[in-house]
Amino acid sequence: MPLDLILGAQWGDEGKGRITDALARQAQIVARFSGGDNAGHTLTAGAQHLKLHLVPSGILHPGVRCILAAGMVINPATLIEEFDQLEAFGLDVSPARIAISPSAHLITPAHRLLDGAEERLRGAPIGTTGRGIGPAYTEKAARRGLRAEELRSWSAFAPRLRSQLESAARLLEGIYKEPPPDIEAVMRDFERYAERLRDYVANTDALVATTLSEGGNVLGEGAQGTLLDLDHGTYPYVTSSHPTTAGALQSLGVGPSNLRKVIGVVKAFQTRVGAGPFPTEASEADAARLRGTGEQPWDEYGTTTGRPRRCGWLDGVLLRYTTRLNGFTEFSITKLDVLSGFEELRIAVAYRYEGQRHPDLPCTPAGLDRCEPVYENVVGWNADIRSSRHWNQLPPEARAYVERIERLTGVTAATISVGPERSEWIERTL
Ligand code: IMP
Repeated sequence: MPLDLILGAQWGDEGKGRITDALARQAQIVARFSGGDNAGHTLTAGAQHLKLHLVPSGILHPGVRCILAAGMVINPATLIEEFDQLEAFGLDVSPARIAISPSAHLITPAHRLLDGAEERLRGAPIGTTGRGIGPAYTEKAARRGLRAEELRSWSAFAPRLRSQLESAARLLEGIYKEPPPDIEAVMRDFERYAERLRDYVANTDALVATTLSEGGNVLGEGAQGTLLDLDHGTYPYVTSSHPTTAGALQSLGVGPSNLRKVIGVVKAFQTRVGAGPFPTEASEADAARLRGTGEQPWDEYGTTTGRPRRCGWLDGVLLRYTTRLNGFTEFSITKLDVLSGFEELRIAVAYRYEGQRHPDLPCTPAGLDRCEPVYENVVGWNADIRSSRHWNQLPPEARAYVERIERLTGVTAATISVGPERSEWIERTL
């Protein structure tokens, strides 16, 4: 009855796709459990790269059932666009392969407009992805959201949708002084979306529970990262969902006794998109080196917005924090190859806060601005490690770097990616 989870251990964009792809092959169900089309992952189908935002990576593996779980907010327009792209690749995207939780919420164009308007009105913008995520979760919490189950009956859904659009229009015009959505156009679009998506709405809780009770493998595919969690992240510079172990269980509707592995995906350095505290942010020269030029799909530019990511040194204090929050049973370290060629690397092993040294976060993440990282310098390596396939083939300095992370957190790095290609990774025999 194992449930495995793949979670971002930092601020998202850790490169969760590789390990998800590897584990999806052995799963009966792959479920996305949080967020919406603010996330992005690149799938490799043959020689083609496909950018997806909603459909779980398991779609590449025939026989895997993909679920969009209750904790998600789904933009139907994006989802249908992804179905079309996947179909063009010859993949089956029928309801036999994909199921949407009736409790997942829907994003409308009004949510997107509100997202933009709220950002413009904020004194200090969060730097959201502009996909309407915050406003959709706001309406969910206010108990007036639109849920996927409503797609089943257009006659009942239509007046509720109209009322949501009209309320948003009043807010946008009256308070934000911004243009409203084109209500009639949205109504026409959503009638088509409902027609196309209604058969995908299924009892996903039962699917997950039955698969687990029959001894099948369920894989929870995380989006974003723990430090963007609404409760435990760097509030208010967070997303509006829970990309954590607790969030996954809540969204999938199962208890913790089902858990087998909780895999924390850790980029070998630190990145973040958007505003908010970032204690180990590197100098622009080092950041530019870590980021890459943007010519490659794996360079540090947002999959959803194309924004250059802020880059810095690995933060061991925050990693200990996200380990505590999620109970990681192992790490999957990504992009170790990007560190090749640095003479010296830095890892934050503690913070200085109010004159004292702290190995653990001394305040809430909101206070990170007042934390100064205490760095340990680690000798770098010059060799190209992309051809390494075994732990012992890595230069001793690269192994020492990984081992330092393991000692700081008490979590073992079970897999390490050493290059962008699927084959460029190391599975350690532990
Ligand atoms: P929102 O989720 O669009 O509301 O954005 C809130 C914050 O989360 C912003 O700082 C975004 O840059 C960040 N964020 C949301 N999704 C992702 C992601 O998939 N990767 C990295 N950052 C993200």
